[in-house]
This record gives sequence, structure tokens and C-alpha cells, in this order.
Amino acid sequence: MTFDRSVKIAPSILSADFADFGREIQAVEVQGADWIHVDVMDGHFVPNLTFGPPAVKAFRKHVKTFMDVHLMISPVDQYIEAYAEAGTDMLTAHVEAGAHPHRTLQAIKAAGMQAGIALNPGTPAEAVRELLPLADMVLVMTVNPGFGGQKFIDMTAKIRTIRDWIGDRPIHIQVDGGVDPNTAPLVVNAGADVLVAGSAVFRGGSVENPAPYGENMRAIRAALA
Ligand code: DX5
Ligand code: ZN
Repeated sequence: MTFDRSVKIAPSILSADFADFGREIQAVEVQGADWIHVDVMDGHFVPNLTFGPPAVKAFRKHVKTFMDVHLMISPVDQYIEAYAEAGTDMLTAHVEAGAHPHRTLQAIKAAGMQAGIALNPGTPAEAVRELLPLADMVLVMTVNPGFGGQKFIDMTAKIRTIRDWIGDRPIHIQVDGGVDPNTAPLVVNAGADVLVAGSAVFRGGSVENPAPYGENMRAIRAALA
């Protein structure tokens, strides 16, 4: 996929029907999703538990766009190969997940995937500065990870700092947590180009009635105009 900095919406299937992921992914893509965001949680790095490589591999069959896997797990390195085999396009690890995030990014790239590095709200931008040469994306969390539907935490200063450091390099800035039509303009103006949204995309819809998914994504785009 060629790099571009246009705004992309990545619905988080954390807000989908967990008994119907395949049809939920298809529905949200038909309704206009650019990427599919997959939240992997281990009940250790974050206080919640979702799914692992076999489930992600099963999702892959339904993803026609771009599969963006956000690992909220620690440790990371021994699982990288399994996520490559599952068909992950972008694999993002947290800078807080271990002592050697540089090695983790190297291993993600060596496994043939694009590599993302995520920062929690309490982590300063400086924590990723030396990692930028290895990164295809920086994920700035605007909630403390673990759950959907939390209140947006303003990280616009951090986004601006990282955007300045990136300059002309082909590195995405993704924002995750509490993104909706009110908060999306703030993060896009600060330099973000990939918007993860769970509750703001899936609210009001279902696989039987997917039109609200499209309306919700158009409302986010319209707020940026
Ligand atoms: C938070 C997850 C997010 C979450 C976002 O731990 O990483 O992707 O699903 O959900 P909303 O958009 O509802 O804040
Ligand atoms: Zn996420």
C-alpha cells in the first residue's frame, strides 16, 4: 500500500458483536471503513482480555481493506511471528510493553509487516523519538487502553510534537480513544491521519441494520471539513 496522509477511519471491532466478527467487518467496510482496527488485550498489560492469533487469522478472511492490529500485551516478541502468519498488515506494540521496543520494531519489520509504536497518555513523546526511523506509524492513545467508550484525553500537544519530528517521512500518526465528531477535528488539526473509533462508529447499528455505521463515519468526516 502506498503511503498517504489523507484521513483514514479505522473502526475498532472491540465495539462490534463478538459473536459475529466476520459479518461486522464486512458491514463496516461496505459502509466506508478505510482500515480495520483489531484490539488485542492480554489481561496483564491492560485489565481486559480479548482474543489472540487464531481469532485474528479468522478475521483476516473478511478484511478486504487493511488489517491494523493493536497489541496491548506484554511481552510482545514471542507472538510477532504468529501475527504475521495471521495476515496482519500493521502490527503495533506499546513502547511501555518492554525494555527493548527498538528490537520489537526490528522483529515486526523482519517478519514482513509494517510496524507501529503506541504510547499511553502518561508517556511523553520523547519515548518514541529514537524509534521513528523504524516506525511506519505512531499510535497516540487518547484514553488509557483496555476499554472502549472512555472519555477522550487531550493529547494534541503530543501529536503536534511527533508530527514535527516526522517531517516528510512516511510515518502515520494514529489516534485511539474517544474519537468522535467533536474530538476528531482536534487530533487531525494537530497532525493525525488515522482515526480509530469504536463506539462512535458502531453505535446505533448492527449487521442487520448497518446504515448507521456509514452515517457515523460520514459524521466524523463531515466534522473535519
Ligand atoms: C482502547 C482500544 C480502542 C477502543 C476505542 O483500549 O485500544 O481501540 O476500542 O474505543 P472508543 O472509540 O469507544 O473510545
Ligand atoms: Zn486500539
